[in-house]
Amino acid sequence: MAVECLLNDIPLLQALPPEEKERLRRSLKHLSLRKGDVLFRKDSEGNTLYIIISGKIKIVLPSTLGEEVVLAVFSDGDFFGEMSLLDGMPRSADAVALEKTELLSLEGSDFITFLQHSQGALKAVLRSLSLRLRKTDDLLEDTCFLNVSGRLAKKLVQMVEERGALENNQASFELSLTQSELANMISASRESVNKELRTLREKGLISVEKGLLKIHNMERLKRRIK
Ligand code: CMP
Repeated sequence: MAVECLLNDIPLLQALPPEEKERLRRSLKHLSLRKGDVLFRKDSEGNTLYIIISGKIKIVLPSTLGEEVVLAVFSDGDFFGEMSLLDGMPRSADAVALEKTELLSLEGSDFITFLQHSQGALKAVLRSLSLRLRKTDDLLEDTCFLNVSGRLAKKLVQMVEERGALENNQASFELSLTQSELANMISASRESVNKELRTLREKGLISVEKGLLKIHNMERLKRRIK
């Protein structure tokens, strides 16, 4: 797809006047990642902002023992890598492609100029930072106050809400995550998530077939969030 069309589809850039869009178009570079490619590592120098055209990028904090906590999964239209550009510090987390991913990149100095010229973009970045902090607060709260069963139920309910897939108290969606990735998103072990998914299946609350997760009773699933 032409970059001009993409610029119209990306929420961060939509409100730009045509001349600003044209200026930005000349600064954007296109890059492709394969599944599993590491775009950058925590603590590396960060000079670039990334905008996702298609695909998925996970933002993770790695431990020295090879475990990880997933802070966010970004997809089409999302941007990331802004923190190093705004505070001048190294990357705060790893960025890894969960599937084949197409991105646009913008040099830090161009990003700062862009924000200085566009009030709409500045507001969009501030709003995103606030929403991300809220989600991280939620993750911290859940990790402190909910058990694995409650955390998994909450994550599945959130996934349904984000995809708008609910109908008659039932939902189904492409999970597109391994059990380890799901476990990392709720700060749990793969074994405990595996056990909990089995319990949910045995209770008739969910079924999983060829990567499609079906929730048979949303209300009962929600009652497990405690
Ligand atoms: P930066 O620190 O440059 O590189 C890692 C990026 O991950 C960071 O910018 C943000 O774009 C993103 N990121 C870091 N922490 C979070 C978080 N808690 N929630 C969502 N995104 C984050």
